[in-house]
Amino acid sequence: MHGGDRRGRTSSVFVSVGDRVSSSSTFFFFFNLSTSTSRRSSASSSSPLYSRPNKNKKTKNKINPTLFQEQDRKSRVRGIDAVKANISAAKAVSRVLRTSLGPKGMDKMLQSPDGDVTVTNDGATILELMDVQHQVGRLLVDLSRSQDHEIGDGTTGVVVLAGALLEQAEALLDRGIHPLKIAEGYEAACRAATAELERIAVEFAWSPEGAAKAAKEGSETSSSSSDIEPLVATCATTLSSKIIGRCKRDMAEMCVKAVLAVADLERRDVNLDLVKVDGKVGGRLEDTRLVEGIVVDKDFSHPQMPKRVDDARIAILTCPFEPPKPKTKHKVDIDSVEKFEALREQERTYFVEMVQKCKDAGATLVLCQWGFDDEANHLLLSKGLPAVRWVGGVEIELIALATGARIVPRFSELSPEKLGHAASVKEVSFGTTKDRMLVIEGCPNSKAVTIFVRAGNKMVLDEARRALHDALCVARNLVRDNKVVYGGGAAEIACSLAVTAAGEKVTGAEQFAHRAFSDALEAVPLALAENSGLPGIEALAEVRAAQASTNNPHLGIDCNGVGTADMKQQGVFETLIGKKQQLVLATQVCRMILKIDDVIMPASDLE
Ligand SMILES: Nc1ncnc2c1ncn2[C@@H]1O[C@H](COP(=O)(O)OP(=O)(O)OP(=O)(O)O)[C@@H](O)[C@H]1O
Ligand SMILES: [Mg+2]
Repeated sequence: MHGGDRRGRTSSVFVSVGDRVSSSSTFFFFFNLSTSTSRRSSASSSSPLYSRPNKNKKTKNKINPTLFQEQDRKSRVRGIDAVKANISAAKAVSRVLRTSLGPKGMDKMLQSPDGDVTVTNDGATILELMDVQHQVGRLLVDLSRSQDHEIGDGTTGVVVLAGALLEQAEALLDRGIHPLKIAEGYEAACRAATAELERIAVEFAWSPEGAAKAAKEGSETSSSSSDIEPLVATCATTLSSKIIGRCKRDMAEMCVKAVLAVADLERRDVNLDLVKVDGKVGGRLEDTRLVEGIVVDKDFSHPQMPKRVDDARIAILTCPFEPPKPKTKHKVDIDSVEKFEALREQERTYFVEMVQKCKDAGATLVLCQWGFDDEANHLLLSKGLPAVRWVGGVEIELIALATGARIVPRFSELSPEKLGHAASVKEVSFGTTKDRMLVIEGCPNSKAVTIFVRAGNKMVLDEARRALHDALCVARNLVRDNKVVYGGGAAEIACSLAVTAAGEKVTGAEQFAHRAFSDALEAVPLALAENSGLPGIEALAEVRAAQASTNNPHLGIDCNGVGTADMKQQGVFETLIGKKQQLVLATQVCRMILKIDDVIMPASDLE
């Protein structure tokens, strides 16, 4: 039921459903929107396969001749109209993100129904919070989300590319090319583009082992240094478009160190769950620190307790440092000074016993989920047992896992084997503020690291955390596959040239699709140039011509006005897998949208 040739029929419609049932035969069913003709036509369509069960008891055992029920309550858009309507919905979503692309991309401010304000540049977050209603628009939200899940970065670029591909497809539809032919042509063009990406990708030896090997063989790699510089440069490219871009270098270094600290280099795998990105409002972005251990937003219970405990034996308690209280209501009558003294003494003994039990078990540090009063606090200080109170439930579990401690619910159950171990537990103050945190380092069961972010307000803090997530994902991707391509639109222009060349070898509609794909790829450098305040078409044409004449895939858009278009010199890298994924996912979603030729929805949705 493709094409616009059947447009304009209002009274009766042919619906081909055969190609969904069997590829060898096609059935045509005639149905009408008016009841009288539908009754007449029902004789020719008595197959129960396509009739819905009728819940009306009177006709229970009869074959229901109705083919499609409640057509009058549905609205439909079909054929080319449907494809075009879907394309314009997708383009509208893509246009929103276009201005956010690149180092000079703009941020969006989104307010949730309950008044929470988010300021972000992250494509996936923008689309998530935009609450897109249109079904096809939601496909682009999913597209961005899958890029985020798989790669972590490039969530804006993938939507911009998909929008451009659909825009080009629209022009081809106007020229009478069948949507499926366009989709097939796009797939061939995508293969040519990804092959070009593989060709222009460079590999670097970033690991100490790899660098040592490269040095031994005397081979020339893109980086001869044994440090982590190429990883840092790639993460810095990711961070350059974010609010924390001004300290991207330090942040990128932190992310790379964090990922390498938890990476399993043999299996080339990274468990990002071990990298905790925590934060607290206050201080400056520059105060952000990487801590090799667990950070807990607490301090020692008494200011005179030692600020550092080395080789700590940790008791984790979920019972309070208090005399036990009976669950039932009770009343104590004290009618003499002696009785009162006896009661006080009893209470003090409880405290002393509790502290003694901890000491007897061998604990040198007590973490307590509950609080304790001044009396207990003083006693802990005088007995030389540092303690931390009101440690949260989640943190308690994390610490217990990392240090190998058992969570103890009663003092009577405390024993040496239930204690956890850490090389050091220290109280540190971050930045210039007086906020103090507890840092637990050298835990036997975990390589966990924490990036502790500081920022002036909650909005910046949240955006910084999102940006760091992108950079961590990029570093992880590089551990998995250490190939990069050049950013700033350089890779897209190289692919565009390759797709144009590939298009020359094919004929017919496929050639047009190749040309359209090639033009769509240019949407990314064009957006980068326009967002940076450069004359878009001129900047793009210049770089494209330079790449074509010099065959140099490093040339891209000089967004920051550095004075050179060579992205290798500028150190603007992107991961190969991220870029490849963008092309593949955008092409896939285009194919999906181009294949929809009938949109049926409740009439109320169109009102
Ligand atoms: N210094 C730079 N000069 C030129 N281009 C740059 C520079 N830094 C980044 N880019 C380019 O900016 C683009 C990335 O922009 P941005 O980070 O805003 O979007 P994204 O990565 O697609 O999505 P998101 O980060 O929201 O998930 C890439 O094409 C990258 O090559
Ligand atoms: Mg990015």
